[in-house]
Amino acid sequence: MKAVVWHGEGDIRLDTVDDPGILEPTDAIVQITRSAICGTDLHFIRGTMSGMVEGTILGHEAVGVVTEVGPAVRRFSPGDRVLINSTISCGACRNCRRGLTAQCDVANPNGPLAGTSFFGGPQATGPVNGLQAEYVRVPWAVNTLIPLPDNVSDDAAILLSDIFPTAWFGAELAGVNRGDTVAVFGAGVVGQFAIASAFRQGAGRVIAVDGQPSRLATALGQNAEIIDFNAEDPVQAILDTTQGIGVDAVIDAVGVDAQRPWDGPAKKAGDEQAEQFDAEREQVAPETNVQGDNWVPGDAPSQALQWSVGSVAKGGRLGIIGVYPPALTSFPIGEAMNKNLIVKMGNCNHHTVTPPLLDIVAAGLFDPTKLITQHEPLTSAVEAYESFDRREEGWLKTELTVG
Ligand SMILES: NC(=O)c1ccc[n+]([C@@H]2O[C@H](COP(=O)([O-])OP(=O)(O)OC[C@H]3O[C@@H](n4cnc5c(N)ncnc54)[C@H](O)[C@@H]3O)[C@@H](O)[C@H]2O)c1
Ligand SMILES: [Zn+2]
Ligand SMILES: [Zn+2]
Repeated sequence: MKAVVWHGEGDIRLDTVDDPGILEPTDAIVQITRSAICGTDLHFIRGTMSGMVEGTILGHEAVGVVTEVGPAVRRFSPGDRVLINSTISCGACRNCRRGLTAQCDVANPNGPLAGTSFFGGPQATGPVNGLQAEYVRVPWAVNTLIPLPDNVSDDAAILLSDIFPTAWFGAELAGVNRGDTVAVFGAGVVGQFAIASAFRQGAGRVIAVDGQPSRLATALGQNAEIIDFNAEDPVQAILDTTQGIGVDAVIDAVGVDAQRPWDGPAKKAGDEQAEQFDAEREQVAPETNVQGDNWVPGDAPSQALQWSVGSVAKGGRLGIIGVYPPALTSFPIGEAMNKNLIVKMGNCNHHTVTPPLLDIVAAGLFDPTKLITQHEPLTSAVEAYESFDRREEGWLKTELTVG
């Protein structure tokens, strides 16, 4: 079968690889019909999330049809249309039973203390071959798959595999309450869904911060107020528009590839921190393979965290869903401590977060397809990765058509 395979930083290829087979009684095989490229995948190719194993199939977002099930899979049969959750969970351990499926004790082959297991990630997450492929072996299929109703198309379902639930979870982590003013850092597709989620959870105002005008325009289209960090100092602008108080809650939808301003009034402060940011980049990305404009790691790994803490009100809340690798150790802990902040973070518990969101989509209350900007065949995935990585105008979210 065809699959997108990680060979090294800056080196991904469309390879022909063996079809997967059932290895455990709890496995299923799914023929993929739609996959997608995520900002998380970019961290692996830029080198800012290290520890990838050569030969790992990338991708953790997909929709497909079950073709085979192991003898312990009682809920699914060949022919079932399914959504594949990005994170893998057993459904039986202590953490799965309390809804913390991203911290399943048994799904990660590296043992109970290893943390989240997900498709197409670094060694520490499995590794488990990913979903940018024609077929996939799905471990713990009963918990990792969600049945899809006929009235939800593949295009409507694909962003329920990771993006919408992650963003919803981010708004929950940030404790969004009725009437809150919420800042969303990052207006990539996760940030866009965080805006929609914050409003649905009761936010009175949502302020989106990014440096990409076209992404800010999309945020504006969702009724967010927008701040371009290359035109204004985002912390000052947020204080100015909240009577000096700051926002009630912040969602960080940027992560480790954060950039600092390359223009505008906040550039000077970022440049003055260049030494610290460079040291952070060394820490998170020991290996990189920059090729022209491609695969350039963000130049300020802790920038979004600093702005988040700086712009939230005293006693406010911070929900971090942007991905940071274990190697990053900087967080403005003193400033957060001295503002009595509540800080929550983590990988989305897809198995428990997604079902009500699937209902919202099935009922036609929210149309996720409007945020898919590119439809490419799997065979063009490498070129699509390159355009998305360069943040080309209009490339917000790429879905991959398979088969
Ligand atoms: N926790 C989870 O379960 C989970 C799941 C999916 C994705 N993620 C993470 O969410 C993040 C966003 O994903 P995406 O697909 O939207 O990625 P993306 O790369 O498309 O979007 C990131 C956005 O952040 C913007 N940005 C860069 N520096 C910034 C700064 N200093 N301040 C504000 N914005 C800045 C970029 O311009 C870009 O628009 C990634 O880190 C991804 O790994 C987490
Ligand atoms: Zn993703
Ligand atoms: Zn479990």
